[in-house]
Amino acid sequence: MRPRSPLLLALKLSVVLGSLWTLFLLSGPTIDFNPTYILRYRWLEYTGDDGSPESVCNCTAIQQGDEETLEQTKLLTITKDFRKSIQIPDEYYINATQDCRNFKLSRKYLTFPLSQEEEDFPLAYSIVVHQKVQNFERLLRAIYAPQNIYCIHVDNKSEGSVISAIEAITSCFPNVFLVSKRVTVVYAAWPRVQADLNCMADLYNASTKWKYFINLCGQDFPLKTNLEIVRALRYLRGGNSMESERMPENKKYRFTNSFEVVNGNLETGKQKTPPPFNLPIMSGGAYIVVNRGYIRSVLEDHRILTLIEWSKDTYSPDEFLWATIQRVPGVPGSNWLNAKYDMSDVNAIARLVKWHWHEGSRGSLEAVYPKCEGNHVRAICVYGVGDLQWMLTQHHLFANKFDIYTDPVAIYCLEKYLRQKALADLH
Ligand SMILES: *[C@@H]1O[C@H](CO)[C@@H](O)[C@H](O)[C@H]1NC(C)=O
Ligand SMILES: *[C@@H]1O[C@H](CO)[C@@H](O)[C@H](O)[C@H]1NC(C)=O
Ligand SMILES: *[C@@H]1O[C@H](CO)[C@@H](O)[C@H](O)[C@H]1NC(C)=O
Ligand SMILES: *[C@@H]1O[C@H](CO)[C@@H](O)[C@H](O)[C@H]1NC(C)=O
Repeated sequence: MRPRSPLLLALKLSVVLGSLWTLFLLSGPTIDFNPTYILRYRWLEYTGDDGSPESVCNCTAIQQGDEETLEQTKLLTITKDFRKSIQIPDEYYINATQDCRNFKLSRKYLTFPLSQEEEDFPLAYSIVVHQKVQNFERLLRAIYAPQNIYCIHVDNKSEGSVISAIEAITSCFPNVFLVSKRVTVVYAAWPRVQADLNCMADLYNASTKWKYFINLCGQDFPLKTNLEIVRALRYLRGGNSMESERMPENKKYRFTNSFEVVNGNLETGKQKTPPPFNLPIMSGGAYIVVNRGYIRSVLEDHRILTLIEWSKDTYSPDEFLWATIQRVPGVPGSNWLNAKYDMSDVNAIARLVKWHWHEGSRGSLEAVYPKCEGNHVRAICVYGVGDLQWMLTQHHLFANKFDIYTDPVAIYCLEKYLRQKALADLH
């Protein structure tokens, strides 16, 4: 299947292009909300004239941080007509995926590994979603490769149409599946971790081939191509990459007292026993990049299983559990406990996040990154087009948060950048 030379590849592309053209001629717009622009993408390459509502924007100028273009783009994205044009109802996905072949062609999913190097290094993804199907589908498309494997956890409390639409999308791919056990996620509570754990177990059981595990949520987007991700992971030489630092005093309440979910909220309970085996609880984030052995430890190592049980009634266990496991001796790819091995979110490659209180200008002692050019949700930056130029210079594999309804052009330009880079790296 996989082309061995550029010539063969060109041949293969022209064959596919031909059949796409036929498909395009045969399939007119059949649904009311007229999403025909989705069918107009040229095979593989996202061109500037693909007819999508965002394509009127000059991504090259946006990536270069051109002030005038950024201003024009921001004005465009707040107009009523534009905002209306970017809405895609859940029903669209349910319908469009009835014909999987056409769906994958028209949405330009990759149907073969782009290189031997990527084929030899399959990845496993856990994606936790609860709304905004369009965000999810564009994320999936951006990271999709046939050699990888994807477990999707849709929140049990999601609307029925969201669950149906995501189920319909996953049904088009043999290597994308819904988690076997769905939980109801409550902000800062245990089920957020359980959602990932359920996917970890499913992924571990589904295939013995994948080398690294990456967890995502519906509002993440990649900053690197699959090839770049594979190379970054190989460069870790078996190590894991995530935030794992000393626990600040003001966060220790999170696990010194118990918490329980009451009517969808977390309430404080009685004092907890110290962590099992006197494991030092580390501070970290919900998003990790870990090797297969780390996942085996999470699923099978009795010390970790005990730690997991102990963590179930704590506050925001997602922000200490992975970071703590990363320092347990014997866990594959883990680091020693000494503070010299502490790693901040900025130094890890797992996730780029802009926290409100760390924004500022370069040269200030407090500032960690330039100010957010989008807006904030729970003190986290939802990126705008103005963040792209800086973001693409960072080493992180993924960035959080993106929102199709906050700034669709930021996502559109990233999609284009990544696909062009992936195709350029073919030569
Ligand atoms: C879904 O698409 C089919 C053709 O693929 C069409 O016959 C049908 O009317 C569409 N349904 C809706 C609700 O638009
Ligand atoms: C987009 O911006 C780039 C860089 O500023 C410029 O060279 C190019 O001509 C622009 N393209 C269009 C179609 O305006
Ligand atoms: C999922 O939601 C349904 C109601 O929609 C509820 O009955 C069920 O207990 C929930 N399951 C879990 C695991 O939360
Ligand atoms: C793994 O998958 C098989 C079926 O493919 C199933 O029978 C088995 O129970 C699963 N094991 C675990 C631990 O989930």
